[in-house]
Amino acid sequence: MKTTRFQFNEYEVLAVPVLRDNFVYLVCHAGDAVLIDAGEAQPVFEALEENDLRLQRILVTHTHHDHIDGCRDIMDRLGVQAMSPGVEGHEFSILGTVCRSISTPGHMAVHKVYHFPALGVLFAGDTLINGACGHLRGGTAEQFFTSLLKIRALPDDTCIFGGHDYLVASMEFALGVEPGNADMQARLELYRSDPAAAIFATLGEEKKTNPFLRVDTVEEFTALRKQKDSF
Ligand SMILES: [Fe+2]
Repeated sequence: MKTTRFQFNEYEVLAVPVLRDNFVYLVCHAGDAVLIDAGEAQPVFEALEENDLRLQRILVTHTHHDHIDGCRDIMDRLGVQAMSPGVEGHEFSILGTVCRSISTPGHMAVHKVYHFPALGVLFAGDTLINGACGHLRGGTAEQFFTSLLKIRALPDDTCIFGGHDYLVASMEFALGVEPGNADMQARLELYRSDPAAAIFATLGEEKKTNPFLRVDTVEEFTALRKQKDSF
């Protein structure tokens, strides 16, 4: 997959593929940019150069190597800071707009997602990977379920940008859980003609096709997560 561009008012989001199946994201406005996660540095340097962007900051969702291994090179070369602000919901201004970091433990004991309310965009890291959710690697199932409820409470037209392209495996799993679900089938088929359109869905679309947003109790969530771990 190549870098994909999305327009949100006068802001642009670039979804930059890195490593084997990760995404990092550049939020761009008036020649400035903020980077969400940094699994690899070189594709970020290239995207900044091609689009004539000045990087202001790196926001980190969590500290797995495939989300931070490029940080040091980017910080050293460009003189920017990487940050992972306040553990509980914390608002700050960046690129002339508000960003809200939301604490979403579960995938790890510490994980944050970044919500830009004026843009209607959520960078969800490995909490809500498009079509699925991350593994339990440090947090508890209760924490993870609560974190997903926080995301579910956002507006349905919020565009979700997760940490990986796992869409095919995620939809195959989803269809195993709900055979014959037409929305899941359509999302899987869309991937074959337009991967980016299938991956980067709104929260409303995720609620129709992501099994982890379709359970209502922590018990159901725990069972589903176990089922996917052995899928
Ligand atoms: Fe991760």
